[in-house]
Amino acid sequence: MKRKIILASLVFFFSCSKNKSVNIYKTNQYLDFNEKDKIIGESVWKTSCFRCHMHGTNGANALDDKEYWNTTAEKGLEDLFKSVWEGKYGEEGAMPPKGLCPSCSEDQIEKSILYLFKLTELNESPDSL
Ligand code: HEC
Repeated sequence: MKRKIILASLVFFFSCSKNKSVNIYKTNQYLDFNEKDKIIGESVWKTSCFRCHMHGTNGANALDDKEYWNTTAEKGLEDLFKSVWEGKYGEEGAMPPKGLCPSCSEDQIEKSILYLFKLTELNESPDSL
């Protein structure tokens, strides 16, 4: 009986301490995104990501699909990084691993994701930047 209580409290403890994802727009990586990061992110975007995310081709969501990106932002950087790094099957198409940039490093992929969100945010309120 005692063991069951200990087990139950452990399960409870771990489910509560599980990190809640931070909206990507509120992460330090996003808020501190500087010119150097932008150069890295932009170059990956221009060679890979834009192919699908600029206009929403191959089942991807377009840059100006604000509702989609705002909801997606809530998944947090860690989860989104995993999706891009490993690839993701969407409802209407698939994103290849590393978003079609096979030679990209983890850092380059992270910056390209942050850059994509900078672009969508810019799109949403052009006067704010
Ligand atoms: C070949 C097309 C293609 C390319 C290239 C591509 N994507 Fe995607 N991307 C997709 C599809 C398809 C989805 C899934 C859409 C869905 O969830 O229905 C997706 C989803 C995403 C998501 C959301 C993932 C999630 O977990 O919800 C992010 C972030 C993303 N892409 C970023 C990128 C970045 C950054 C690059 C460049 C490094 C990139 N994509 C390149 C097709 C692409």
